Amino acid sequence: MITKEDVRDLVDVPGGTVSRKVFVDEEVYAREQEHIFRRAWLFLGHESQIPAPNDYYVTRMGEDEVILTRTGDGRICAFLNSCTHRGMKLCRYDQGNTRVFTCPYHAWSFATDGCLHGVPGFAERYHEQLDKSQWGLARVPSLSVYAGSIWGSWDPDAPPLEDYLGGMRMWLDFALDYRDGRPNGALVLAGVQKWRTRCNWKFAPTNFIGDVAHVVSHRSVDMVGIGPSGQGRRDRKVEGASVFGWPDLGHGGTGWVGAREEDYVQPPSFGQFPAVAEYFRKARAERRERRRGEFHFQGKGTIFPNMSFHEEQPRTVIVAHPVGAHETEFWRYYLVDRDAPDEVKDVLRRYFMSYSGPAGLTEQDDLENWSAATTASRSPVARLQRFNYQMGLGHSMPYADVPGCVWAGQLHSEQNQLIWLKRWAEFMEGRSWDELMHRVAIPGDVPFPLAQPVGAPA
Ligand code: FES
Ligand SMILES: [Fe+2]
Repeated sequence: MITKEDVRDLVDVPGGTVSRKVFVDEEVYAREQEHIFRRAWLFLGHESQIPAPNDYYVTRMGEDEVILTRTGDGRICAFLNSCTHRGMKLCRYDQGNTRVFTCPYHAWSFATDGCLHGVPGFAERYHEQLDKSQWGLARVPSLSVYAGSIWGSWDPDAPPLEDYLGGMRMWLDFALDYRDGRPNGALVLAGVQKWRTRCNWKFAPTNFIGDVAHVVSHRSVDMVGIGPSGQGRRDRKVEGASVFGWPDLGHGGTGWVGAREEDYVQPPSFGQFPAVAEYFRKARAERRERRRGEFHFQGKGTIFPNMSFHEEQPRTVIVAHPVGAHETEFWRYYLVDRDAPDEVKDVLRRYFMSYSGPAGLTEQDDLENWSAATTASRSPVARLQRFNYQMGLGHSMPYADVPGCVWAGQLHSEQNQLIWLKRWAEFMEGRSWDELMHRVAIPGDVPFPLAQPVGAPA
């Protein structure tokens, strides 16, 4: 059994190394289910997937399947997708609309607020003695909506979602807002892409949090030119970007340093599709005016533990659902502006799928890396080695304008992977929320390694 003390040996943040057991060991995996997926805030879906009363969408929280519903009176709820009678998978569709979920096994039925509604033979078989109020579906106790995105935690004592997200919200806004800067304008295109890959789930969040060095493995896609204007993979500015992260929260991403909305100039994009190019040109001009003076945080990132997103090219969310120490179920959500013309949505849909998802050219490269790294790390001798995360170690600096944020001052750094793994270790140790949210100090805790100010003693 993995103990708290074992966890401390697994992740060495000041030294920048991590035991491969973190990524391949079955006992580590079992402990993650308890200490991470039963406690952390997890991304469940988006309001646009359940817009009408009695809409539902079946999602996951770690290994647990969950039904996300909008009740008849418009509330959002989430329940374990497992009948309280004998555990049957209650809802066998991915999404839809219904007033009751009827279990396929013995036909107990549940309303969209999770209450047990009907029991066959309630009078003659149960003599009206079954207390239906006690046998509703297991409810996700902590549920919260941020700018249309829906999050849940199995821990009733989880801190408010906004505290958990912290400053990372500014990054997330980029994916969830309208392109022209109005808040909360995303729509999930119908059809979440789902597939399984034989890799450990942690390869995905620690990749999207800021692994820029791996773009060497996307060389073939760069050469094919799937970008919106027919060149490279994307039409985008890359100079001046850095990695940013929150060592106290475990989130991070890549973005542009110190850019204000009015200063940021996006290169012309979607040149092959004039209507789409014009849509983005106009939206960006409006954004510059609407958000003048604000930071420009374009980029991609990861919210601990397993939700990652890209803000635009492609504008997607990916969730890495663990299904075993060596297998992951990935769910890709594609986002567009809710009020974009159909022509724009259609071009984006096709571009996004050529980039991401199981048939996306770029995603395939990542999946190959993650599955081969899992396989080559789990054999008897391989699993005894450690991974190296020393790129940029000790060169991170506080990012003065954003509380709690540190940045690497360069795009290539493994700062963010270490930030994520530091958080992973804190959860795996079984820390209280007071400790996890840094409301109390932990004796002996080593701060995240930062650069020494010039002139300071080493
Ligand atoms: S398992 Fe659902 S009604 Fe029996
Ligand atoms: Fe990649």
